[in-house]
Amino acid sequence: MVKELRIGMLGCGFMGKAHSNAWLQVPHFFPTQYRPVLKACYGRQEDRKQLEEFAARWGYESIETDWRKVVQRPDIDLVDVCVPNHMHHDVVIAAAEAGKIIVCEKPLALNAKEGEEMVAAVEKAGVPNMVSFNYRRVPAIALFKQLIDEGRVGRVFHYRATYNQDYTISAKVPQGGLALWRLDARVAGSGVTGDLLAHSIDTAEWLNGPIKAVAAHTETFVKERVHAETGQVEKVTIDDACMFLAIFANGSIGTFESTRYARGRKNYNTFEINGDRGSIYFDLENPHILEFFRYEDPDGRRVESHITGWQKIHVTQSEHPYMKHWWVPGCTIGYEHTFINSFADFLASLEGGPKFQPDLHSALRTQRVCDAVLESARTHQWVEIPE
Ligand SMILES: NC(=O)c1ccc[n+]([C@@H]2O[C@H](COP(=O)([O-])OP(=O)(O)OC[C@H]3O[C@@H](n4cnc5c(N)ncnc54)[C@H](O)[C@@H]3O)[C@@H](O)[C@H]2O)c1
Repeated sequence: MVKELRIGMLGCGFMGKAHSNAWLQVPHFFPTQYRPVLKACYGRQEDRKQLEEFAARWGYESIETDWRKVVQRPDIDLVDVCVPNHMHHDVVIAAAEAGKIIVCEKPLALNAKEGEEMVAAVEKAGVPNMVSFNYRRVPAIALFKQLIDEGRVGRVFHYRATYNQDYTISAKVPQGGLALWRLDARVAGSGVTGDLLAHSIDTAEWLNGPIKAVAAHTETFVKERVHAETGQVEKVTIDDACMFLAIFANGSIGTFESTRYARGRKNYNTFEINGDRGSIYFDLENPHILEFFRYEDPDGRRVESHITGWQKIHVTQSEHPYMKHWWVPGCTIGYEHTFINSFADFLASLEGGPKFQPDLHSALRTQRVCDAVLESARTHQWVEIPE
């Protein structure tokens, strides 16, 4: 039986587009009884032209410039939160109180205190919810996890993550407004820590277990920028770059680096794990490739040394995570598919399948690690993360 799932989209920018596309595509590729219907879309009054074009292009039935109207409309089943971080708290709590299913973009909130209140609200309301750490649904990253779970890495010694970009090097880039709200701490909460390292931390804890403690340093290279909305030169209070050391509960140690000042790097999200049996490496700029160094198999058998070496797995076989829903082996999928894969898993969980992860409750951990990183950078001390 086909069930309509009426979507209220909050945000008509980058993620609004990625999510709208995913809602429309998911029933074409995955078995689901749900038929998402793009019911209403919110954007700010000042972004109204963009909102109207967006709604027409994606086929939204209506637009709103007051997000509360979307949340309260009785013809909306699911609220999809694709607005900047400072809105997540109020929006999610209002949506939970209105009994809506909730999809929330990362980072969960501006800080863990907000996150706790959001988790309390969704748990009180008992509404299904997910946080969009979509990289878990890159097939090569899901295969990374599978190889670890199969025992192919063994005892882990090191975890190494980078998430680098280069689009804020010029001091002429303003802060504030569409996309550039990321440079305004009041709207973003933090800089690369919440925006980019939140992804790296979510993936790291998923692959390698909880982080126990962190020691961080942050830097703001351009101290003042024009604010696009006020026209005034204002102090920049986000972290432009952040590096931190991490101790994992499994005894391994990690390094994390993120910046928007790495000339030539666009979305350089990489991570590597080194264990006694093998190593695995992933680079989002080559998303269909997983690099694996196989030294010893889980049964203790050594790979003959004359044929050991890094192998590049082209993650497009039907045996690979998600790939049987897409094309024939050898045909790659891309960035937009990570959102479609995510919604497929979320809809499956609504239909009684495995509980979707991460939900708001588990995304709160990532927020706590982000808070600890920023506290460590402020105090120059190691900071432990509460369990
Ligand atoms: N999962 C991912 O990989 C990923 C990627 C990009 C963004 N995100 C997250 O998605 C959310 C939205 O990001 P985006 O890149 O789509 O944003 P965007 O700038 O492209 O769009 C922002 C939308 O929010 C509205 N808005 C409301 N208040 C605003 C304000 N003060 N400043 C600017 N816009 C405002 C705008 O009208 C617009 O519709 C953020 O929480 C971000 O962290 C996640």
